[in-house]
Amino acid sequence: MKGLILSGGKGTRLRPLTYTGAKQLVPVANKPVLFYVIEDLVEAGVTDLGIVVGDTGDQIREAVGDGSRFGARVTYIQQEAPLGIAHGIKISRDFLGDDRFVLFLGDNFIRDGIVPFVEAFQDDSLNAQILLYKVPNPEALGVAVLDERGNVVRLVEKPKEFVSDLAVIGIYMFDHHVWEAVNAIKPSKRGELEITDTIQYLVDKGLNVKASMVHGWWIDTGKMSDILEANRLVLDTFETRILGEVDANSEVYNKVVVERGARIVNSIIRGPAIIGEETQIVNSYIGPFTSIYHHCLIQDAEIEHSVVLENCRIVDIDQRIEDSLIGRNVEITRSPLKPRAYKLMLGDHSKVGLIGNGR
Ligand code: TTP
Repeated sequence: MKGLILSGGKGTRLRPLTYTGAKQLVPVANKPVLFYVIEDLVEAGVTDLGIVVGDTGDQIREAVGDGSRFGARVTYIQQEAPLGIAHGIKISRDFLGDDRFVLFLGDNFIRDGIVPFVEAFQDDSLNAQILLYKVPNPEALGVAVLDERGNVVRLVEKPKEFVSDLAVIGIYMFDHHVWEAVNAIKPSKRGELEITDTIQYLVDKGLNVKASMVHGWWIDTGKMSDILEANRLVLDTFETRILGEVDANSEVYNKVVVERGARIVNSIIRGPAIIGEETQIVNSYIGPFTSIYHHCLIQDAEIEHSVVLENCRIVDIDQRIEDSLIGRNVEITRSPLKPRAYKLMLGDHSKVGLIGNGR
């Protein structure tokens, strides 16, 4: 079986990070989401991988390389524009041939991996398999309606009225019948070849589309709150591991990872938290559920429940930073200039929550 990972797309919900960076490389507990995806596939024995990339292809290629360090072999497939998930399948025809394959969206995150689902799909009588996850907000997602025997009847994108609370997650399996489907469907109103239409086509043709339930958590890391949630859930599974330096004036407790070359000086790290390689935490407090990536400096500052990407400088801040996702090379410092005011240089679509004066 082959694997196809979709790692292009627009990433509008994660702007401004996605103006310059691939959303699939945003780290969860200091590891890019895409790496978890590759590891899940390799764990299930799927090592011949195609990765569909768009504008951020160079970054993805640089991060993943030929796949050998994951025990995989990676072929890159360039998508000229984000024309839909089914379009991503369509342009991968040469790579996939007539093989059965797993399609894994590069920003999807699943706790318990995909081994049992890949095993179930070894059964040649299945033409496709979709994975479903019970959600409290079906109106925001694509859902599947099943009959009383559990067969897929139809898929509905963002249902206005309740039809099902079983969201179709971004992991699918197909056999060669998918080619007929992706060639037959037409672009939707938003101009994309939709995966929903592809699966509906297979169902309507009477093909054998199995629906399997996912019970451990699933997160689509397409927006900030989801990344913070995934980060929280993964950090909570960590054990303490101190490879860097923690000085005698610092306190580190409750599931803290301090990576090689990191230094903790006169600071408190209350886990679950991870401090990346060569990062320095000086006179600061790092609170639960926080990931600070590599080569950052946090000095005279407090951060909690946040994800900070590489090469950031957060220095001399007297308000605690919480619930934040901070991109690469960001500087947050106290301004020495008068008048005393917030002095901001923010990219398009940035979001800043300032503390009000009690109103
Ligand atoms: P989505 O999150 O559905 O779309 P998007 O990346 O354009 O993001 P947004 O909705 O915030 O604008 O995409 C799911 C995954 O599939 C993601 O990893 C990007 C990838 N993708 C492609 O590679 N090509 C495409 O044409 C599309 C639509 C998505």
